Amino acid sequence: MQIVKYQFQQHGDHRGQLVSLEEFNDIPFEIKRVYYMYDTKDGVVRGHHAHKTLEQILVCIHGSCKILLDNGKEKKIVFLEKPYEGLYVPNTMWREMYDFSADAVLMCLASEVYHEEDYIRDYEEFLKFVQEDRSMHREGQ
Ligand code: TYD
Repeated sequence: MQIVKYQFQQHGDHRGQLVSLEEFNDIPFEIKRVYYMYDTKDGVVRGHHAHKTLEQILVCIHGSCKILLDNGKEKKIVFLEKPYEGLYVPNTMWREMYDFSADAVLMCLASEVYHEEDYIRDYEEFLKFVQEDRSMHREGQ
């Protein structure tokens, strides 16, 4: 599994840093929604889902956290701690976010508005979904 991390341009000067994110320039999709998590309590694991179509970029704009990515075959853990670094999470990817520092702010830029129908919240269902997805791609070859 390939981990795709974006290094955003930092506009720094003597006053400090600034990062600007434009859809299709810095972010590879149209940004339809932005949300962020903060004040996450100790020991909490968030996420526990995949999306059928939505893609997103996660940026830990303050503090740090870990992201577990699982494509149904392979799992990888990514540490996020830089406000100028974005982790791309494609569709059909199970994710869990954990080990949030007390000051962590995890921002998510998403390609879709909130649609509960796009979520797969059951891990067994996710495994079935990716298997069907893969066999559909094989047939299409
Ligand atoms: P939830 O899906 O549990 O977050 P995560 O899976 O990332 O840990 O979302 C928490 C609550 O917020 C839930 O009641 C749904 C609501 N919510 C929205 O209304 N809009 C959104 O864009 C998101 C991500 C969540």
